[in-house]
Amino acid sequence: MKCPVSDLRTGFDPLDLAQQEDRYQLWAYAREQEPVFYSEPFDVWFITRWADVEAAQKDHAHFSTEPVFFPSKPWPQPVREVLDRGYSWHYFLSNNDPPEHTPLKKAVSKAFTRTQTRSLEARIEEIAAELVDSFAASGRVDVGAALAYSFPAYVVLEIIGFPREDMERLKGWGDDWLTLFSDSADVETLVTAAEGFVSFQNYVLDHLRERQREPREDLLSHLLEELHRDPAVNLGLEDIVNVPINIMSAGHETGTLLMLGILSQLLADRELLARVEDHRELIPDLVEEALRYEPPVHGIFRVTKASVEVAGTTIPAGARVLLCYGSANHDPEVFAEPERFDPDRADVGNHFGFGKGTHFCPGAPIARLEQRVALEALFDRCPNLRLADDQEPRRFIHFWLRGYRELWLEWDPDAAALPPAGGGGR
Ligand code: HEM
Repeated sequence: MKCPVSDLRTGFDPLDLAQQEDRYQLWAYAREQEPVFYSEPFDVWFITRWADVEAAQKDHAHFSTEPVFFPSKPWPQPVREVLDRGYSWHYFLSNNDPPEHTPLKKAVSKAFTRTQTRSLEARIEEIAAELVDSFAASGRVDVGAALAYSFPAYVVLEIIGFPREDMERLKGWGDDWLTLFSDSADVETLVTAAEGFVSFQNYVLDHLRERQREPREDLLSHLLEELHRDPAVNLGLEDIVNVPINIMSAGHETGTLLMLGILSQLLADRELLARVEDHRELIPDLVEEALRYEPPVHGIFRVTKASVEVAGTTIPAGARVLLCYGSANHDPEVFAEPERFDPDRADVGNHFGFGKGTHFCPGAPIARLEQRVALEALFDRCPNLRLADDQEPRRFIHFWLRGYRELWLEWDPDAAALPPAGGGGR
């Protein structure tokens, strides 16, 4: 098998658009020839086979998430001074290992379960209907901007308990957080981003204080109650300000990318589309196959606590490692015909799309619900849905997330006023 780039060590660039198109060829080459490889320009090790990714995930003695949310070089003093006015970064769920992670994750998971009520499902349906109604008469839309971006954001705000009017502010602060990890930002930009991030933390703290006084039926209130209930947890409000921030960022862009991934696969296959429209009970398997075939979280970072041998290669201590979920999901040792998109495969649902084990995504049931509801809203309101053939989908370029940002769709709006045929076979 030929390597699609000159040399993995020096030539692999996850941010290069052309290489994004050949990504699965590259993973296939890596799994076969160099299952663990090092990238010099990025100073990152890549683990590509299913069995090795799975083993690394379970191996907390060697692979840690703790230093994952830190920049590749220390922040300049003025940036640290601003961040010191905020609160500890310790208790991000994604940035925390067992045993400390265990009770916090338990409380978050219980809070999620309590928040996922029937009335939440009805509310999610309302949000989807409202968004799709806003463009259904037009017959053509960039579904990325009009639905896939806003919908998961509104849902996550609803779940956490932040008002929707705050969306723009929260988005700005979310961007500030990302800027803090940019290697190219100058000190002034980093200081502004740090100020934004500290405002974000204060905003969350105000909401937590309010829920402590007056609990509601939302994730913030449930989280406080669950933490309070568990004697193994002894955390103040200041300690947990980053948990809702983690939830907000983890539950937004991922949903956008998954929705556009599902639509691009489904609408490229008219036969599959017709089947799914007529048999909506197939939607959950379609969603699972999209999570295997094109997972939005294409890889996730860990840092080695000690040197470790993986597939015959020694990774040194203190190395940044990407567990390549996207590659593991296409491993022929696990999947028959891995390059075929097939929601009917017998093992549908077996994938790293939501991670596995300790850091498994607590928002998975909500993410699945969100995708089903969005597809149904589109089917109900946009008859004869198809990809616009004059616009290429636009990729979202990111180191470890993958998918589209822009996807143009067309349909026949004249028929949109008609009621959905037979309730859509549900
Ligand atoms: C399609 C949508 C989503 C995808 C593809 C996705 C994917 C993932 C993956 C792969 C992980 C594990 C990362 C690791 O191995 O370290 C994860 C963790 C997480 N996800 Fe999701 N997620 C989605 C939606 C959501 C939603 C809707 C929420 C919340 C409302 C959420 C909250 C979280 C949190 C808090 C974690 C960290 C858990 C921990 O570290 O213990 N996610 N997600």
